Amino acid sequence: MSADSPWAERAASLYDHAYAKRYRAHDEQFQASAPCREFADWLGRVCAMFPPPIDVLDLGCGTGRYFWALTGVRSLVGLDASAAMLEEARRPYNADRIGAPSVSLVQGDLLTHRFEAARFDLVYSVGVLAEHVPFDEPLVARLVQWLKPGGRFAFTAVHPASPSIPRTLGRRIGEGIVPAMRGRVRRGLRRRLLAGGLYADEERVRELLRPRFAVESLERIESEAHLHCLCVARKVSG
Ligand SMILES: C[S@@+](CC[C@H](N)C(=O)[O-])C[C@H]1O[C@@H](n2cnc3c(N)ncnc32)[C@H](O)[C@@H]1O
Repeated sequence: MSADSPWAERAASLYDHAYAKRYRAHDEQFQASAPCREFADWLGRVCAMFPPPIDVLDLGCGTGRYFWALTGVRSLVGLDASAAMLEEARRPYNADRIGAPSVSLVQGDLLTHRFEAARFDLVYSVGVLAEHVPFDEPLVARLVQWLKPGGRFAFTAVHPASPSIPRTLGRRIGEGIVPAMRGRVRRGLRRRLLAGGLYADEERVRELLRPRFAVESLERIESEAHLHCLCVARKVSG
């Protein structure tokens, strides 16, 4: 078994029992939250892109807020670093509407956990990548390995234009000069503006996914906390 990354350790201590209980209580206000309803509708549309049945992984599943929104699922795995969130996911929101005949909750670090190759048709992740863990090349390589040929990766990533990110003077200057930059200087400046992978704009999402994925949709969406990129991408090679 691989050791957890500092990101997973941080998530496990942030999402402790008290936070997990509050998070799960918030799930019950689902219908009152436009972003939650939008994410659920989006996941339903993503599932409908496949002929059923499908094998699905929820990366950073938390309390299992969206389990019920999936359709045509044969097996669902929820992976999360926080034992407290997974404890809540044993009794998720709308449990009686969950269609998956098999749901496994796995405590683990999405940056180090091992799944067998080509295990999943769909890997989705809401509120985790480019937010709680860096979204970068090694992570994309892991996803490529876990997905079956033609499988899909559907995810959110915090956009650097999110109102949740302080518009410091340095950031405003950086954003102003980056269009005039080229080559290594531009890449270095962009890396800083994207906080080493903790944010991702459309350019970065496309850059990371190419050439192993074909981007099927890439839009912006506002959650209760952030402005995100919302992306669906299909694995196009081995
Ligand atoms: C904002 S919550 C999102 C939960 C759920 N996806 C949702 O939309 O309600 C972020 C979740 O990501 C998990 N997480 C963060 N870093 C992780 C890592 N390295 N490995 C596994 N889970 C992680 C946290 O424990 C937490 O449950």
